[in-house]
Amino acid sequence: ASGGELRYCNVVITAGPTRERIDPVRYISNDSSGKMGYALAEAAVSMGAQVTLISGPVSLPRPSGVKVVNVEGALEMHAAALAAVQAGADIFISAAAVADYRPVTTADQKMKKSAEQLQIALTRNPDILADVAAAPNAPFTVGFAAETQKVEEYARGKLERKNINLIIANDVSRKDIGFNSDDNEVSLISRDEVIPIAKQSKQALAGQLMSQIVRQYQKTQST
Ligand code: PMT
Repeated sequence: ASGGELRYCNVVITAGPTRERIDPVRYISNDSSGKMGYALAEAAVSMGAQVTLISGPVSLPRPSGVKVVNVEGALEMHAAALAAVQAGADIFISAAAVADYRPVTTADQKMKKSAEQLQIALTRNPDILADVAAAPNAPFTVGFAAETQKVEEYARGKLERKNINLIIANDVSRKDIGFNSDDNEVSLISRDEVIPIAKQSKQALAGQLMSQIVRQYQKTQST
């Protein structure tokens, strides 16, 4: 997609994994590379949007024309997302693979090896997407659902529970799409439509997704 469909629109996108620190040299994380979220940021820029990309630790080049906010843990990403939304956002897209749990405590010093077994207590992280959707002046909210089974059913559950406008379901049990691969294949699910989008590069897919997101966003503006 290209042109000015998103001129004067502020789009906030989260991307990449979060890192939940155990100690100064260890953390809990996941395989997200940030490719999907960064491709969406580039697609939104090409449609004329002002884009804020809230990024977990990734090794991708900074996309040009995008305001990048680098974060590490879920709590930091949560604060950055809510601040960006409070500053004024029209569309929020949550492509980040946010860790659901973090260690209850982070050790100040590197932990020493001792006992045969070690337990690390974890506590729930806040749900960034749900909190953005519940914020005053909530933007149009788009989530992803990373599923390994019952992909559409579980994605619909997240659409309802998080009370968001759209959810993009991907099957992350497949090695050729999803986490860290160059390609993706998704279904875009709203309350009244399911739009399958065929396997292709994340860049090409991001263009198609942004066009669909804009179309659905515009429906909410004209009523
Ligand atoms: O980064 P890549 O390597 O390109 O891979 C892309 C991807 C597979 C990471 C991406 O396409 C994707 O599916 N992102 C969402 C991953 C995820 O955490 O999904 P989930 O089903 O666990 O979460 C549902 C939604 O809630 C997501 O939009 C997620 O960003 C959001 N969430 C989840 C937990 C939390 N504490 N806060 C959140 O905002």
